[in-house]
Amino acid sequence: MDKQNFRSQDFRGYKQSIISKIDEDLARTGSKTSCGEYLRCYWHPVALTSEVSETPKEIRILGEDLVIFKTTMGNIGLVHKACPHRRASMVYGKTEDKGIRCCYHGWLFSPNGEILETPGEDPDSKSATKIRETFKLGAYPVIEFNGLVFSYLGPMDKIPEFPQYDAFEIPGNTSSPYRINYNCNWIQVLDAIMDPVHTSFLHGQSSGIQFSEGFAEVGEIEFYERGIQYLGCNTRRIDDNVWIRVNELILPNFTQAGAAFAADGTKSKYFGRSSFTRWVVPVDDHHCVALAWANFGERGDPIEYNNQEGFEKIEAGEIANRTLLEQQKSPGDAEAVEGMGSISTHKGEHLMPTDQGVMIYRRRIRKLSKDLEEGKDPPQPQIKKGEIVRTNGQDTVLRAPKRNKNDKEFVKSICSSVMKMQFDLENMPLKERDSAIINNLHKMEERGNFDGL
Ligand code: FES
Ligand SMILES: [Fe+2]
Repeated sequence: MDKQNFRSQDFRGYKQSIISKIDEDLARTGSKTSCGEYLRCYWHPVALTSEVSETPKEIRILGEDLVIFKTTMGNIGLVHKACPHRRASMVYGKTEDKGIRCCYHGWLFSPNGEILETPGEDPDSKSATKIRETFKLGAYPVIEFNGLVFSYLGPMDKIPEFPQYDAFEIPGNTSSPYRINYNCNWIQVLDAIMDPVHTSFLHGQSSGIQFSEGFAEVGEIEFYERGIQYLGCNTRRIDDNVWIRVNELILPNFTQAGAAFAADGTKSKYFGRSSFTRWVVPVDDHHCVALAWANFGERGDPIEYNNQEGFEKIEAGEIANRTLLEQQKSPGDAEAVEGMGSISTHKGEHLMPTDQGVMIYRRRIRKLSKDLEEGKDPPQPQIKKGEIVRTNGQDTVLRAPKRNKNDKEFVKSICSSVMKMQFDLENMPLKERDSAIINNLHKMEERGNFDGL
């Protein structure tokens, strides 16, 4: 074959064979890293309640090796894995009514890390008395809530209030806690929530229909940045209906979307809520976990998905642990994000206008991490003390027959009007807000006019 032919085709393998760099500012979450310190300003779920028992369990969060346990009195402790005496693992410790006893020399620690007993040492020993009085096993505060255990891994003089979201209690929905582990960096998993376009391809075309037919449509995309709340709306024309689907991220890692299976744009729906209420938590720089509730009922997904297989499908479009061939035939989120490698080489990306959501939230995390380095604490989701955080992740399907002229703009304007209406009702008492949004959506639809009320 004539080699000139190859030359004219501009193969770029060699030219582009240098491995691109990792975005260190976002990917590194260990102690004393920029993003790691930022994440340590917030409460995160660290385990399912069902995983915590009197048998200690080893977990890793933000790169820290920890042990979680329940005392025989039912108190949960989250402590450093290594015993401060000679570094034996607390996972082999014995739980008692007051705490956990190290297997090696019997030191007893309370759930907050206090050294209660050093039984092998002379009771009058100065060094043993001193260590009991002045030193502690590293421990973190925990809150058990609705099947998830949350912890705060930051400095205790800055511990924030535990945030309450309206999504914690969705009228008419039941919620089940789940965990899905990912073998990759947390940013790869978090990105997908601010990437509403991937649902049309990954979940609607590349793997056939993973949720519903309507997902295959590429809609009109709009992003909102509101304080630390980020919304990515994908509004699709489905025959005479307009389907507004809102993905939501509240920094640093709280995520919601619309329904997974119970939304296809063909049936009217008024402020349907997210199929999941979920946090993406770094385990270490190469692994993360989605800890979440799956939401079932009229405003979530059908109850038949309330099992492990359902959680995996809601989370990633497909079940976990398949053969490579199955994964290749029908890739889901896990394949898309883990396939990038355990830490994606972000500097090799080519971000497009549809990646705007990803760009703006990443930029903000970088900025907030830098601010923190300069002494400025990042904002919490709740602005006022005791406030319940209003969320917007949802599905709405309204009847709005197609216009012959400028239908794309019409579809886009419906999304803008609906979102504005929701934002205008943000400060209403919680229950009233929910029904006011639903009533307004009905009104808009009946009038056939979406330009405000
Ligand atoms: S190593 Fe734990 S008590 Fe000695
Ligand atoms: Fe997805």
